[in-house]
Amino acid sequence: MPRSEKNPDIQYCKMAQASSLTTNIALALVVVLMTLLRQNKSLQKWFVSNVEKLLSKKSSTTRKVNILSPTLKLARDEKSTGAYQPNFPKLSSGGPTLFELTQNLVRLHEYRARGESYNGLLFQRTRQLGENSQDQLRQLGYFTKLVKSNEGIRENAKIIDKIIEHTLTKLVRSNEHDREFTEEIENICGEHGYEVRDGHLTQLKSSSQFPVVLSQGSQNAVHEALAHLCRDFSSYYSKERDPLQKFISNRIKNHVVGSGSPEENNLIVVPGAGVGGLSHGLSSTFPHMRVDSIELSALMYICNLFALGYDRDVKIRPFTQQYSGQTEFGNQLRALSADLSKFNQCDNLNPLWGDFRQYSPNAKNFDKIIVCSAYFIDTAENVFDYLASIEALKGYCKELHWVNVGPLKYGTKPLVQFTGDELKRLRKMRGWKDLVQTYEVDYSKGLNGYLTDYESMYQGYYGLLKFHSVFENSD
Ligand SMILES: C[S@@+](CC[C@H](N)C(=O)[O-])C[C@H]1O[C@@H](n2cnc3c(N)ncnc32)[C@H](O)[C@@H]1O
Repeated sequence: MPRSEKNPDIQYCKMAQASSLTTNIALALVVVLMTLLRQNKSLQKWFVSNVEKLLSKKSSTTRKVNILSPTLKLARDEKSTGAYQPNFPKLSSGGPTLFELTQNLVRLHEYRARGESYNGLLFQRTRQLGENSQDQLRQLGYFTKLVKSNEGIRENAKIIDKIIEHTLTKLVRSNEHDREFTEEIENICGEHGYEVRDGHLTQLKSSSQFPVVLSQGSQNAVHEALAHLCRDFSSYYSKERDPLQKFISNRIKNHVVGSGSPEENNLIVVPGAGVGGLSHGLSSTFPHMRVDSIELSALMYICNLFALGYDRDVKIRPFTQQYSGQTEFGNQLRALSADLSKFNQCDNLNPLWGDFRQYSPNAKNFDKIIVCSAYFIDTAENVFDYLASIEALKGYCKELHWVNVGPLKYGTKPLVQFTGDELKRLRKMRGWKDLVQTYEVDYSKGLNGYLTDYESMYQGYYGLLKFHSVFENSD
């Protein structure tokens, strides 16, 4: 066999050269098109309106279809009244739609292509180096590393395929008796390479041509959702989860329940549940309480349903494209096991997809509601909205508790960015009484990592603001 066929470095060069010609032609066309569009306003308008027409034709139907959680049952927009969305009665329209679900399934579908194309870009960059440097890269096995990273991406893509299949299966099953949506659902399944036969998904041959649909969002959210599956369900990350879970569970055990009222009359609410590790933990620690968890992001929510419904462990390589801070490539490529077989859904857990600010419990007469927020407060664009939504839960119970643990690392264009002390005084002003409030900021006593690669040279840790407060405002 000629040397070039054996050596992955040289194979990568050849593959990349061939693909680089096609890429260059495509890029040149895009550049010409962009230049024409930039220079000519009426051409620009014509182009945008035609692209919009093309996209909206397909999406206009799915945009109007609401999707209910946790069933993934579909309902036409005009029907989405309180009766259909018991936990989101404030919605007259809006809320998660079939369109949002399909967009995010496409985003998942693109993971492999986009990941490999990023590695292709990394290869392309090396072409700017001189002959000698490229030769040294070859000797170092630098290109082999890129090929192996692609293998890691392909392994992750297999898990992503399972997530897509799991979601589509749930969508098909929940709507199989509603003929109104049959065609739409079959089309969506077709886009991902499945056919629906007698209510079951059948995978089409991989040689079948699936339509290319480009999602709008970036791939970061897909990487994050995969990494969160590890954070919430892999033993590797128990050191990140356990301190949060322990603080919240202890507060509930020792300072909320046990004072006479039956646990059945209490409700735990977890806003910003991510992929659901904390809410699952609370539902199994307190099997007699109902736990409503609410997550806004479609990708996180899809992964949450997968984690609760898939009964086997899965191996995920969360760092395969994290090139910074690595000591050796083996670490970068390593797989973590998300032990999903241990995390089946408990009957008292109600995982909801939606905006916490529009959530309501579906009963009015709880003894106690305990809001448990972890790494959540600082996601608020308007933290006053979060406070108001939490306080509104007082209308559904005799006693409202709020147990919080997390940093204050504001993102999402916040209108205000409070210190811990300002938040404490604000709670007091609004009628909250703190039973406890502490900070954990001492490095020597251990801070809290968040999706940290503990084998790498960059490790991020957070100090935590922990409080447990009771709402005493009777207005
Ligand atoms: C930093 S993550 C933390 C996730 C989880 N609590 C954990 O500790 O792993 C914050 C989560 O809150 C979600 N989120 C942000 N705003 C929300 C809202 N208004 N309603 C529900 N979830 C929201 C985000 O999508 C994200 O998954």
